[in-house]
Amino acid sequence: MSRHTIARIHQGALQHNLRRVRELAPDSAVVAVVKADAYGHGTAIVRSGLADADLLAVATVGELQDLRAHGWTGRLLLLEGFSGVEEYQQVLAAGAEFVVHHESQLALLRQRPQTDALPIWLKIDTGMNRLGFQAQELATLTAEIRQLNQGRTPVLMSHFACADDPENPMTSRQLRCFQDARADISGAVSLANSAAVISAPASHGDYIRPGIMLYGISPMLGEQGSDRDLLPVMTLSCRLLAVNQAKAGASIGYGARYHCAQDMRVGVAGIGYGDGYPRSMPDGTPVLVNGRRASLAGRVSMDMITLDLSDHPDAQVGDEVVLWGDGLPVEEVARGAGLIPWELVCGVTGRVRRELV
Ligand SMILES: Cc1ncc(COP(=O)(O)O)c(C=O)c1O
Repeated sequence: MSRHTIARIHQGALQHNLRRVRELAPDSAVVAVVKADAYGHGTAIVRSGLADADLLAVATVGELQDLRAHGWTGRLLLLEGFSGVEEYQQVLAAGAEFVVHHESQLALLRQRPQTDALPIWLKIDTGMNRLGFQAQELATLTAEIRQLNQGRTPVLMSHFACADDPENPMTSRQLRCFQDARADISGAVSLANSAAVISAPASHGDYIRPGIMLYGISPMLGEQGSDRDLLPVMTLSCRLLAVNQAKAGASIGYGARYHCAQDMRVGVAGIGYGDGYPRSMPDGTPVLVNGRRASLAGRVSMDMITLDLSDHPDAQVGDEVVLWGDGLPVEEVARGAGLIPWELVCGVTGRVRRELV
């Protein structure tokens, strides 16, 4: 029997979410972030679901090449830029734009200036202390990049650390830092990830860079996509492989973590950490069996999970089990496990078939 472990990818939902993004930031171009295999959804969706995006952004050169191989002919952005000559050449060959955030990249550009005058994206660090030049270097660097890129002003960008929490003053501090640094520079700007698209309209600027919200997931703490009229794009499901009866006092699964308080029905479903369903999921994690809630009972194995089917007297082998997606927000599942939804969707492994709906 085939396992039927499937991630259904709803292209209509993706298109809907992109429209929602545009409603929230009507004056900005949309850089759709599709790194990590479109956040685990599969790059194949990009052509149909994100055909209307203004640019696509990824993290690695391999991802750039993959998108070109999938037929994307539009603008592409490499968010972390290149490391080394070989990657630089590959980025140019892919006709992609890139971020410059470090002196080592600038040094390479000085040796081999851009010849095709695509925009270069210059990243400054406004307080996250991850990637980017210091804000006070912005004017000098902008002038130098203009020289290296046929007079073209770079797109000025930065990234927020705490925009998922509207109460956190960090976002306005970062925005002020950015605005002060670029006061006398007329170039286009890009700051907003999904959370800032929602919570910091003042940061929208010329290009927004949403990732997670395109997939129907709210980036805001404590929320779910439906709170923002977003539709889940991925529904991860599998089937029941067995339904057994366990006696009161019996334990279930590895480590005998779960103990049956009474006689109960136990379902065994065909998904595990080998598919990206994390081993750290606690007992009680919700799933849907035939559209109704049941819960995890016992440690996640590589290929299987065990479920408390006490309230599902009719469930039988072959029935559908939904792990997250339509009817079961991935945000809720992640929260209960002390994870973030980004981790769950990105973690779905290659052996799970992506089925475009
Ligand atoms: C530079 C940059 N911009 C935008 C995004 C998109 O973020 P989100 O998925 O939270 O919208 C990311 C994702 O990590 C990023 O690294």
